[in-house]
Amino acid sequence: MLKLVKQGFNKNDIVFYGNMFLLGNGHLGYRGTLEEYKKEQLVGLNIIGFYDQYKTKWRESLNAPNPFYVCVKSKNKTFSVLETEALSHKVSLDLKNAIFSRKTEYEEVILSSERFICQDKDNTLCMKYEIVCKKNLELTIEMGLDTDIYEINGPHYTSKKLVQTAKNVEFIGKTNENKILQMKCCYSFPKYCTYTNKDGIYTVCLQAEKYKVYTFYVVARLYENDLSDEGISSSKQIYFSYKKSHCQAFSSLWEDADVVIQGNKKAQFNLRYSIYHLLILGNAKYKTSIPARGVSGQTYKGAIFWDTEIFLLPFFSYTHPAVARGFLEYRIKTLPGAIAKAKEFGYEGAFYAWESQDSGLEACSKYNVTDPITKEPIRTYFNEKQIHLSADIIYALEEYIKITGDLTILEDGGLEMAYEVAKFFMSYATFQNGAYHILDVIGPDEYHERIDDNAFTNHMAKYAIEIYMKYAKQFQKYDDILSQCMDFVNHLYLPIPNEQNLIEQFDGYFKLEDTTIEAVKSRLKVPNEYWGTKNGVAYPTRIIKQADVITLLALLRNQFSYEIKKKNYQFYYPYTEHGSSLSASMYSIIGFQIHRQKEAYQMLMKSASIDLSTDQKLFAGGIYIGGTHPASSGGAYMSLIYGMLGLEIIDDKPVLHPCLVENISFISLKLKIKRKQYYIKIYKDNSYDMEVFK
Ligand code: BGC
Repeated sequence: MLKLVKQGFNKNDIVFYGNMFLLGNGHLGYRGTLEEYKKEQLVGLNIIGFYDQYKTKWRESLNAPNPFYVCVKSKNKTFSVLETEALSHKVSLDLKNAIFSRKTEYEEVILSSERFICQDKDNTLCMKYEIVCKKNLELTIEMGLDTDIYEINGPHYTSKKLVQTAKNVEFIGKTNENKILQMKCCYSFPKYCTYTNKDGIYTVCLQAEKYKVYTFYVVARLYENDLSDEGISSSKQIYFSYKKSHCQAFSSLWEDADVVIQGNKKAQFNLRYSIYHLLILGNAKYKTSIPARGVSGQTYKGAIFWDTEIFLLPFFSYTHPAVARGFLEYRIKTLPGAIAKAKEFGYEGAFYAWESQDSGLEACSKYNVTDPITKEPIRTYFNEKQIHLSADIIYALEEYIKITGDLTILEDGGLEMAYEVAKFFMSYATFQNGAYHILDVIGPDEYHERIDDNAFTNHMAKYAIEIYMKYAKQFQKYDDILSQCMDFVNHLYLPIPNEQNLIEQFDGYFKLEDTTIEAVKSRLKVPNEYWGTKNGVAYPTRIIKQADVITLLALLRNQFSYEIKKKNYQFYYPYTEHGSSLSASMYSIIGFQIHRQKEAYQMLMKSASIDLSTDQKLFAGGIYIGGTHPASSGGAYMSLIYGMLGLEIIDDKPVLHPCLVENISFISLKLKIKRKQYYIKIYKDNSYDMEVFK
């Protein structure tokens, strides 16, 4: 199928390529870095769902040692792109099979490697490394397990024990939380080389003959918490047999997920690239859900945000529903944490953690941003006030049920979760002047904090409670608060469209300074300054970080008319900075619906190709926020199906309202809906046909 290939080396791209060429298997992520790189180049083998906290620093997901460290030297040269200029250098990512490879040619030596994380085996990674010399040359090769780990808020290991033998390295790390990470690696070297070992690294001497190929094979395996006495071996045979079964397992994920786009190569590539970034995250075996930066590292503490439920769940529900169910099971499992958080803040029910880790307890600190000038932490209120997340989870529960028809999730804890969320919103609200108001919140637009009656939050809360009521009645369980809920939804204040059909983002938004993004930008003292909080440049203005009212219209798209969508899109579009990667896809969905196809297409492409760009924001107010953007990839899929294809489910079947744009002559895809899989083909004239596939 297709490959992402980049030629040449530019040290400014190192961090971006780490994300762009990322490998993953839904639990582990290995950044797209080169073998000669170390922690300074952000080499990372990230484990999701395995967290640790060092002293009072932020608790974050763990990075493991790097089993694939290699540095090749001759007497007077180090063959590393960081030190010696190469004649040619190429990195590629085979998207169909999730295999990374590189080839670098120097004057005397050609180095190539290939690696993958086994999709079909627990926590196993493999690498093949090849050296070819253009003349007879004496080489020293350092190869092994680099235990000098890149960590944002570490050190996470209180002890690192290494046992090294002729071919094997075993690492046992104990974390600050007394958890154990064990890693076993096996290195197989070509014949006729001699080596010594120290600190996990082998120093190999090779008298290389001209044009002979010298191949090294590495197999590494991780064990979390339980020590294993399994033996690990590596050889050419093992490598190729693992590669074969891995390729079969990964490429089969594409069978249900691929989208064929004809007539526009860029659209095809970008869409497939974003689907790749979703597929490396989805593995029904793991019930740890997906962090905001996927498996690309420790950014955002490896925590789960609303990104997963709102932006990732639709893709997985239509293509790999067991993965989508896993997201909901994670929220059900962490319900006790959400109940504990509600209690802590004096509310009833379930108040889900804005940044949720393994137990569901809140990982988001009170000072989540730093001032890039003073380096002082800035007080933020995301954890206390971004309450819409609890409603978003129930929205996702309903989306999942609508798409899959799987009502068993309700009996498996889903209904109880909806019940607790309903209780939470009712206890959070304030009764004033004959109506319930949801005061002092943050909506999706994080630049305006502690505002009242955010349209998104209020509408989503109402929706979540209505979903709860529907199922509590149907199942006659958890139904003791039904009349209270009925009263609440009937009296909940909802920011509704005014005479101009505009929905005010929150109480008082229309009175804010009417200015432009450029004007606000020009007020920044330093480029990385945080725009939000009461002292931020955006706060007194109408400039918003990301789609807020537009996200509401995109999610509850059947509740709002064409005219309302059009007016709000036109109004909010110039004020939206798109400072979050969650923004463009929501505008894209509405853009397609109101026939602003050009912009809608551009925003779809922006969402799909975000991790292909090398000009992203890496810092927010002094905090590193780099990594991949799964929500943007999932959002691109949503823009395609709900925007360009206008998908609705009517009477359990897909119905489309397509508008193919930008020379796209044909699209085909498979969608699983209510236990049937549909193969749908959409043509240039926007007609389509479909067959029930299985
Ligand atoms: C966005 C949030 C998002 C988070 C993680 C923030 O910048 O404003 O909406 O959940 O990033 O992606």
